[in-house]
Amino acid sequence: MTDTTLLQLLNARFAAAFAAAGAPDANPVIQPAARPEFGDYQANGAMGAAKQLKKNPRELAQAVLELVNLDGIADKLEIAGPGFINIKLADSFLAARANAALSDAKLGVPLPASQTVVVDYSSPNLAKEMHVGHLRSTIIGDALARLLDFLGHTVVRQNHVGDWGTQFGMLTAYLVEQDKAGDAAIALDDLENFYRAAKVRFDADPAFADTARDYVVKLQSGDPMVHALWQQFLNVSMSHCEAVYSKLGVQLTRADVRGESAYNEDLPVVVADLRAKGLLTESQGAQVVFLDEFKNKDGEPAAYIIQKQGGGFLYSTSDLATLRYRADVLHADRSLYVVDARQALHFQQLFTLGRKAGYVPAAMQLEHVAFGTMMGEDGKPFKTRSGDTIKLVELLDEAVSRAYALVSEKNPDLAASVRQDVAQAVGIGAVKYADLSKHRTSDYQFSWDSMLSFEGNTAPYLQYACTRIAGIFRKAGEVSDGAAINIAEPAEHALALELARFADVLQSAAIEACPHFLCSYLYQLATQFMRFYEACPILKSEGDVQASRLQLARLTGRTLETGLGLLGITALEEM
Ligand code: ARG
Repeated sequence: MTDTTLLQLLNARFAAAFAAAGAPDANPVIQPAARPEFGDYQANGAMGAAKQLKKNPRELAQAVLELVNLDGIADKLEIAGPGFINIKLADSFLAARANAALSDAKLGVPLPASQTVVVDYSSPNLAKEMHVGHLRSTIIGDALARLLDFLGHTVVRQNHVGDWGTQFGMLTAYLVEQDKAGDAAIALDDLENFYRAAKVRFDADPAFADTARDYVVKLQSGDPMVHALWQQFLNVSMSHCEAVYSKLGVQLTRADVRGESAYNEDLPVVVADLRAKGLLTESQGAQVVFLDEFKNKDGEPAAYIIQKQGGGFLYSTSDLATLRYRADVLHADRSLYVVDARQALHFQQLFTLGRKAGYVPAAMQLEHVAFGTMMGEDGKPFKTRSGDTIKLVELLDEAVSRAYALVSEKNPDLAASVRQDVAQAVGIGAVKYADLSKHRTSDYQFSWDSMLSFEGNTAPYLQYACTRIAGIFRKAGEVSDGAAINIAEPAEHALALELARFADVLQSAAIEACPHFLCSYLYQLATQFMRFYEACPILKSEGDVQASRLQLARLTGRTLETGLGLLGITALEEM
């Protein structure tokens, strides 16, 4: 019954009808109806196909309408405008889909062909504290990883932390100094200050700067003492990140960490290989690749720098090695890079060069999952009042305490023990959802008031919808969970239709790496449920009708809970 999604099913039936009508190459263009009076779905492919075949689109649409086999699926088809086919699904069909979904752990979501998908996310630089840009990457990447997992893909999470580069010589030298003074632990407590203080020492004291440079060399040559210190620094820095992950409930562990330093050995190999393939050119002492695909404003090919003058390697070099690793060792079919949109050029050049150099098989998909900048309430890049970068741990704590105040105000009767958990779920959920619900490529303005609102497309609204449903079951008392869903009322039809779309929404969110598709869907589903709840009394109805409506409510609750779970957000029973 649910081995295909609704869209796949309609597409297949219409494709066959187009073929029978003499248009075998037509794309049926099936879409949810733009307005309810147009039915549930529309097949808009007749116009395009008719143009190709130089036929009259309405006549082609008529032929398709007569040929299409939608027995048991749709009970009304209609031609509108120049050749749109409006499709009204049958109540019995929607009921059967809903019943099948209820008895399936995956809610009737068919699994696409499984891929190995690398999701590179979070990936902070360990020299400093994690900042808001990494917060976005962490939230979006985690949601995508969960979604891909749910769809049966093999997901390989990769936390590509910045753990290498000359600044680590400086930090290690400073660590030694602080250690001698007995202050290392305290100094490391605030990585931002630690970095700043190290930099001040570096700039002011030539002897310190020499030691720092000496440490870089020692680090690169594998000196055990310096290596151990560097490792200690990374450990502390990583645990700062983990404090954020744990507050967020993000599924990243140490096992997922594979930082830039992991590729060190491959860097000279990459350079030598690019040289052997004739791709390298020397330019102002540096080793660069000129890619014709990328022209600068004077129309000259842009240089992608692979090795600095003096031999140092770059971000680009380790990303090339990373490409090789993901292709050769992880055997990825698809590699997602959840990284700030401002790195777009880097990734375009990386992917182009990676393919040219033969580092990835042609079939491997490489995608920069770009996101915009997080802005403060004032519309400027996110900073504290004093202009410092915001500490993420404090930001998340504030989310929880604001949610606590809000929940206490809305529901003073809630037991204190429950309230803390609710505040946790609502506060963190709000921060995540605010980020996930916008198209990721747009810049997004952080606002406590809008993310914590109980109205509109927010986490609290959806969590509240879940509690409404749980509340119905609390009031209903003992109910069997085996009853069948029957659809009779328009509001039941509309809700069941929304439920039937779940699989298609997940598929397209996964294909386009767009979690906001899922957010919009959940919001629509919750809204549709509220309409159903108004129009179709549940507790006041009786017998089979009541049993069926309870089942619709149950499926809605499960779908909301599952959907929120895929976004990394906890659904609630009460709040
Ligand atoms: N550490 C980088 C930054 O903070 C992000 C790394 C993203 N991943 C990658 N493979 N380049 O900007």
